[in-house]
Amino acid sequence: MCGIVGFTGRQDAKDFLLDGLFKLEYRGYDSAGVAVEQPKGGIEVIRRVGMVAELARAVKESDIAGKCGIGHTRWATHGAATENNAHPHIDCSGKIAVVHNGIIENYMELREELTAKGHTFRSDTDTEVIAHLIEECYEGDFVEATRKAISKLRGAYGVAAIHADHPGVIVVTRKDSPIVVASSVKGAFVASDTVAIVEHTRDVVYLDDDNIAVLNPDGHIDFIDADGNAVYPEPVHVEWDAEAAGRSGFPDFMLKEIYEQPRVIRDTLADRLVDGKISFPELESVGNLANDIDSVTIIGCGTSYHAGLIARQLIEKWARIPVSVEIASEFRYRNPIITPRTLVIAITQSGETADTLEAIKQSRGNGAKAVAITNVVGSRATRESDAVIYIKANMEVSVAATKSFLAQNAILAVLALYLAQERGAIPQDEVCKLYGEMQAIPSQIEWILHQTNDIKRCAKACYKAHSVMYIGRQFGDVTCKEGALKLKEISYVHAEAYAAGEIKHGPIALIDDTVPVVAIATKSSTYEKVISNIEEVKARGAKVVAVATEGDEHIKRYTDLVMYIPDIPEYFSPITASVPLQLFAREIAVLNGRDVDKPRNLAKSVTVE
Ligand code: F6R
Repeated sequence: MCGIVGFTGRQDAKDFLLDGLFKLEYRGYDSAGVAVEQPKGGIEVIRRVGMVAELARAVKESDIAGKCGIGHTRWATHGAATENNAHPHIDCSGKIAVVHNGIIENYMELREELTAKGHTFRSDTDTEVIAHLIEECYEGDFVEATRKAISKLRGAYGVAAIHADHPGVIVVTRKDSPIVVASSVKGAFVASDTVAIVEHTRDVVYLDDDNIAVLNPDGHIDFIDADGNAVYPEPVHVEWDAEAAGRSGFPDFMLKEIYEQPRVIRDTLADRLVDGKISFPELESVGNLANDIDSVTIIGCGTSYHAGLIARQLIEKWARIPVSVEIASEFRYRNPIITPRTLVIAITQSGETADTLEAIKQSRGNGAKAVAITNVVGSRATRESDAVIYIKANMEVSVAATKSFLAQNAILAVLALYLAQERGAIPQDEVCKLYGEMQAIPSQIEWILHQTNDIKRCAKACYKAHSVMYIGRQFGDVTCKEGALKLKEISYVHAEAYAAGEIKHGPIALIDDTVPVVAIATKSSTYEKVISNIEEVKARGAKVVAVATEGDEHIKRYTDLVMYIPDIPEYFSPITASVPLQLFAREIAVLNGRDVDKPRNLAKSVTVE
């Protein structure tokens, strides 16, 4: 999605702007631009379609210089990905430049009004109305003009604006779109994501909805609310540092993040057993959650939705509470049955997924308590929910979710145990035993990370296929769904995931010797059934790659290749069995020459519906 950066201070702005835009690249974009106040006065804008590197080249070839500027990476929503539609956008006078994330819902009517008043529009974007609105409201006070302008906007926005008559000042505001500001001895910074700032300072302020931050070149930031009253938000100290944002020698972030998973699971599981009981201090503020509910509804999108599907099996198995799992974009439009006795668990790595946020709002509107499971401190999901449980994945840069998925699974498994414990659904020593079993997972993942040659062999056997079928049962079925999503999104190889028992009801028609089948055949209560399903696809000529349990030699009779994982109870197997599938998908993407971290058409956080 789009990214915003801005800097005002004592040094040239363009280096920070470009560096920040490079750091935001992972979010996905199709064009980029900067606007910098020139020492001789006026604002210079440079925009390019394509990579930030294109923009960087153009900026370096220009004589653009100045200590205050804003920048943007755009992911087209209104208007094609052209230079004209790229941000920053300027007003008629050329004195005001604006960058914007989000969508202005009433931009058409505003555009018509402003055009009738004589404003000339140069782009097809919704953003341009903001520049003209500020111009229209301007009577010598830039901050006041911005405050008045945004009061006319409907929709979601993160905005940063500069004005040539107010050198060194950046005015920033937001509604339902993340904005973070910070100051240091070098000056003041704004970005849509902390990653662009953290190298300069780790103390940041997450701007509240409708508030305005005024950044000054001495680093001082003033904050006002929508009525113009001064407010004093508390800075938040970000735990991770610039090193965490680097690749640390790995060829891509996805591989780095896959290798971080043992640490992530250790951190996520740490300190959850206190005096023999599973502990969630985060839930204390919402009362007796476990016993005040009749059902659980889990909401998420993409990979986070898959984590929900796994959690359903665990909550139902251990806590014996009925669980429904919903894709957030569907949930919001189908008038679901949510009551004050429904616990809503919203899973979102970024905490900014528009559909998930709306689903949280709707659920709370029906009186339900919503618990967000997220990775990003200060994200919108944390503000919209009754309680927040953070996964300990640290920043995830690669568009494909890997470590956040494993961390979601780990914390949801512990949450399922907590619900079972609080409802007395299983004996306490059983709760402790299950939690104890989870402690083996990090070293099991380390073991898998030493088997990469086998995984590479499997990938080599499959990377030319135009389509891959994934099959599994129960926990293996959900593992397949996530494995297939990983393959599609980063390698662009079509992949289908099916419950193995279901393939004979249609999908088996797809199978021939050109469609490899990945089968989850780990030790489980349905192992024999999966073997039968493998035989069915083998009989139709498919090459079969199995994910199986270490030591299972028997499986080799039915399959062509095997990726092993250590022995683990089936209810925790999605956590470990997902790891070879992540590596398998990545390897196929690499063999096909794909940009693993930045797959086409995708963005890291999906802040539009
Ligand atoms: C796939 C992936 C996406 C996200 C989805 C939800 O690898 O990353 O499917 O899982 O866009 O994002 P969050 O979890 O940020 O709400």
